[in-house]
Amino acid sequence: MARRKIIAGNWKMNKTPSEAVALVNELKPLVACDDVDVVFCVPAIDIIPVMEAAKGSNIQVGAENMYYEESGAYTGEISPAMLTDVGVKYVVLGHSERREYFAETNETVNKKVLKAFEHGITPIMCCGETLDQREQGVTIDFIRQQIKVGLQNVTADQAKTMVIAYEPIWAIGTGKVATTEQAQEVCAAIRACVGEIYDEATAQAIRIQYGGSVSAASAPELFAQNDIDGGLVGGAALKPDFGKIVNYK
Ligand code: PGA
Repeated sequence: MARRKIIAGNWKMNKTPSEAVALVNELKPLVACDDVDVVFCVPAIDIIPVMEAAKGSNIQVGAENMYYEESGAYTGEISPAMLTDVGVKYVVLGHSERREYFAETNETVNKKVLKAFEHGITPIMCCGETLDQREQGVTIDFIRQQIKVGLQNVTADQAKTMVIAYEPIWAIGTGKVATTEQAQEVCAAIRACVGEIYDEATAQAIRIQYGGSVSAASAPELFAQNDIDGGLVGGAALKPDFGKIVNYK
């Protein structure tokens, strides 16, 4: 069975609620497309207004982060129930910026992935190597570790429904997109790793995105690769270009 592509925007810390509504209204007609899943992952405070603005369109709304406890004394955090209460279906977990600036580890990412599943939220779990790691030839080893720890205690049935985003850190926000071969090679290795952890059926079902300076120009070739099931898009998700990325065919 062919995997349905999933193209997600990661807004990062951009757009106030009123700017977010204006952007959704601008992008709504441009991202109309029945062939792919379109997700806008937006700052927590933008989720409700973006949901409202996206009503009646094909845009699904995701969060950029979530905490792994149910509720309580965790000042500043957002709980899974807060997200599901307003209809959030996806959450980005373990983005490299969260790992770098907010001390996320494979272990905390794993806790969040498990908690998201408990609440019926689909995780978009991120992984990716630094330039140093790539130059030292340890990319695949490093990513396998991120995947194996991130998926601990996740069942095969859960894994089949989730999304993994491969985002080489050196390609994020740099304009330096990985070559199609580099992106495909690592996405294939991620799929093989999922196959080792579970089975071939799980490996074939899980969706794997590429992220890192995806543009309207690079999307068609990237998304045509066997193991690349769409993209996680930062900078270009804030522009009309995102419509071209969604309608890359
Ligand atoms: P970029 O960001 O497309 O701006 O490189 C991608 C991401 O960080 O998800």
